Amino acid sequence: MLDKLEQQPADALLALIKLFEADPRSDKIDLGVGVYRTADGATPVFTSIKAAEARLVAEQETKAYLGPEGDMGFVHALMPHIFGGGDPSHGGRIEGMQTPGGTGAVRIAVAMAKKAGVTRIHMGTPSWPNHAQILADTGVEMVGFSHAAADGSTDMEALRTTLHNAQPGDAVLLHGCCHNPSGIDYTPAQWDEIVGLLEETGVLPIVDLAYQGLGVGMDEDAYGTRALVARLPEALIAYSCDKNFGLYRDRVGAFYALTRDAAQTTAALSNGHALARASWSMPPDHGASAVRMVLTDAALTADWVAELTSMRTRIQQVRAKLAAAGSAGAVDLVPLGRQQGMFAMLPLNKDQIAALRADHGVYMAGSGRINIAGLTMGNIDKFVGALAAVSG
Ligand SMILES: Cc1ncc(COP(=O)(O)O)c(C=O)c1O
Repeated sequence: MLDKLEQQPADALLALIKLFEADPRSDKIDLGVGVYRTADGATPVFTSIKAAEARLVAEQETKAYLGPEGDMGFVHALMPHIFGGGDPSHGGRIEGMQTPGGTGAVRIAVAMAKKAGVTRIHMGTPSWPNHAQILADTGVEMVGFSHAAADGSTDMEALRTTLHNAQPGDAVLLHGCCHNPSGIDYTPAQWDEIVGLLEETGVLPIVDLAYQGLGVGMDEDAYGTRALVARLPEALIAYSCDKNFGLYRDRVGAFYALTRDAAQTTAALSNGHALARASWSMPPDHGASAVRMVLTDAALTADWVAELTSMRTRIQQVRAKLAAAGSAGAVDLVPLGRQQGMFAMLPLNKDQIAALRADHGVYMAGSGRINIAGLTMGNIDKFVGALAAVSG
């Protein structure tokens, strides 16, 4: 029976890691893998997380089961950062659960939407490739619209048309900030317009907020999410702590639902718990406990904010330096200065991407996506020169 299973294509980015490791050139540049890197090319554990982990080892008294909702102290400690101070639960209308990474949260959001009757999810393309895979695996139809306009800003016209033509039972998946792969985010004014369109059309928003704090700032990066939950009756939010706490392999995420009233939110979350129980049963504890410790200790929170700020500043500096170069051959680098977060898409074809790798030791995804954090003040000039050589 198992012989019916066909070989699946290997993950292209994982294959790229192997090629990069095998390359003997000392000045090679890895722009492929989507993790943050310091100017020295490292992805270190945050000192605030190290301190929390040390406390955790000393203080944790049991490893007994938590339950499908995970660590609710963690879930609630995050809420003011995502939804703002005051009453982040909006009168009990927002509640959450812990998930294995942002991926687990997207999975719960899509599966819950489907259980609630959603059959189609509109999504700006290109998007994080796993979005389409999760939709396909969950059995929800994906309807794509163009995310980016020719001038390197968001394609608002495509989104307007999509929402106006949407049918009852449709949802839309929106990146909260630091769009992956394009870095092209909605402005606050555009978010306000989107909320108005969602109010008008009744389309259910699913927000994927995976990079809060890596764009403009913690509050600024939550503008869209906060505008949605302030004005709309319903929304689903998928959150990742894997990037802004550097916890990638510990798989730390959370899913939140906003509904019309607290009782309905409790009912919605009970569906989330049932979905979790039938897949991973309960999320891993360690990383979420460390985040809870950081967020419930003022000194550790301050350390974390400082570490996140330095990551964001480095990304912004690299973007500014790229934009200041103006262009590299046929590639206009100026829009990169207006975009946000770790990623950008370069308009390169397969041959140009292959030449960058073979002739210059520059590794990037086949889509033309680059990880801005793979660049340093020391290798940007080499990168811009290589881009000019292959695209000029
Ligand atoms: C847009 C987006 N959403 C969600 C995720 C999932 O993140 P996690 O590693 O926490 O599962 C990613 C990770 O790359 C992402 O880019």
